[in-house]
Amino acid sequence: MSEWLQCIGCDSRFDAMEIRYTCDCGNLLSVERDALPASTADFDARRASRDPIDQSGVWRFREGIMDTADIVTHPEGATRLYERGGIFFKHEGENPTGSFKDRGMTVAITQARRVGARAVACASTGNTSSSLAAYAAQAGLRAIVFMPAGKVSAGKIAQTLGYGATALQVRGDFDAAMRLVREACDRLGIYLVNSINPFRIEGQKTIVWELLQDLEWNAPDWIVVPAGNLGNTSAFGKALGEAHRAGWISRMPRLASIQASGANPFFRSFSESFAQRHRVAAETVASAIRIGDPVSYEKAVASIRLTNGVVEEVTDAELLAAKREIDEMGIGCEPASATTFAGVKKLRASGVIRDGERIVCVLTGHILKDADAIMANVPRERVIEIDPTLAAVEAAVGIK
Ligand code: F0G
Repeated sequence: MSEWLQCIGCDSRFDAMEIRYTCDCGNLLSVERDALPASTADFDARRASRDPIDQSGVWRFREGIMDTADIVTHPEGATRLYERGGIFFKHEGENPTGSFKDRGMTVAITQARRVGARAVACASTGNTSSSLAAYAAQAGLRAIVFMPAGKVSAGKIAQTLGYGATALQVRGDFDAAMRLVREACDRLGIYLVNSINPFRIEGQKTIVWELLQDLEWNAPDWIVVPAGNLGNTSAFGKALGEAHRAGWISRMPRLASIQASGANPFFRSFSESFAQRHRVAAETVASAIRIGDPVSYEKAVASIRLTNGVVEEVTDAELLAAKREIDEMGIGCEPASATTFAGVKKLRASGVIRDGERIVCVLTGHILKDADAIMANVPRERVIEIDPTLAAVEAAVGIK
C-alpha cells in the first residue's frame, strides 16, 4: 500500500487500514502518499477506455487516490464542463446520485469494504446520505443516515430511502446530527463516511483534477465552490497543491469559497484573517449548506491560504436569483450550488475578480434535488390551468 494517514497538526503517521478520523492530538487526518506521476498522459489516455475504472472520473486518477484493486464504482464523475456567457460551469449534479458526493463516496465505501466494515453512517443534509445509500447498496453494506428532522428536501429523503438506507430523523440541526453520528460510530463500531473521513476528501479532489483536464491542464484564474461543512474547500486546496507540485499545472488558480449569509462561520473567520474559528446557528433556504459548525475548518483554512483564496457570503435572495439564471440557461442546479454564480457577481462588483479572468463555478447538485425551491421561485403566471380547447391555449399563451 502506498498511502498512509497523517495528522495535519503534528504530522503523526498511522497505517491506512487503521479506522480513525482524528489524531490523538485532536487534529484532522489526511491521506498522504510518496509521489504522484509527473505526467498526465495516462489520465488523458484513459478517457478513451471502456473499462469502468478508467471511465470513472475518480479512478481515472487512481495513482493519486488509493492503491487498491477492489473498487466500488458506479462509475461516477466524468461530468460536463459547460461554457455560458464566458464562465465555465462544472456540473457535479451529473453524477449518478445527482451530486458531487459520489466522488468521495466511491473512495470511502471502497475503504469501508477494505477495512471490513459491516455498516456505514453519515450525518447529512440529504446529498451525502443519498450517495452513501447508493454506494452501500452496491457494496452490500448496511446504511444508516442521521438527518436534521424537517430540514431536508423531500426528494433527497425519498432518494436516500429508495436506495435502502435507514434514516434517523434527529431532533436538532445538522451540527447536532454530526456530533451524534460521530459519537455513535465511535461507540457502536460503525464506519463513518462524512468528509471528516479523509478518504472522502481524496475522491473529491478529482472535481478539480477533472476540470483541469477538461481545460487541457491550462489552469483557470478562479475556481468557485459553495462552502458548508468545508469538505470541498479542503479537497480543492489539496488537489491544487498536489497538481502544482507534480507539474500538472504551471500556476495556481485562486479558490473562492461562497457561503450563504445565514450560515457563514467560515466567512466570519476569513474576514478576521482566520484569527478565530466561528460557530453560528445556521439558517438559509439553501438547506444543503445549512451548517453552523463545519468539521473541516482547519483544512479549509489551509486551502484558502495555499491558493491566495477568498471567502465570500451571499444572501438567500442573491443565491435564488443566481439559481434562476443558471436554471434558465438550461443547465439548472440546486440552491446551494448557485452560491457560486452569486458569489462571482459579488466578487466582480467589488473588483476582486477582474475582467477577462477565467472562472470555473462548481455546481454541486442537480436541479431536481430541491423541487420545492424551484416552485417557490418561478413566476406563477407561467403555470396556467386551462380547459382542453384550442381557444384556451390561444388565450393562455397569446399566440394565434
Ligand atoms: N453543495 C451541495 C449540493 C451540498 O450538498 C453540500 C453539502 C455542499 C454544497 C457543501 O459542501 O460540505 O463540502 O462544504 N452537503 C452535505 C450533505 C452537508 O450532507 O449532503 P461542503
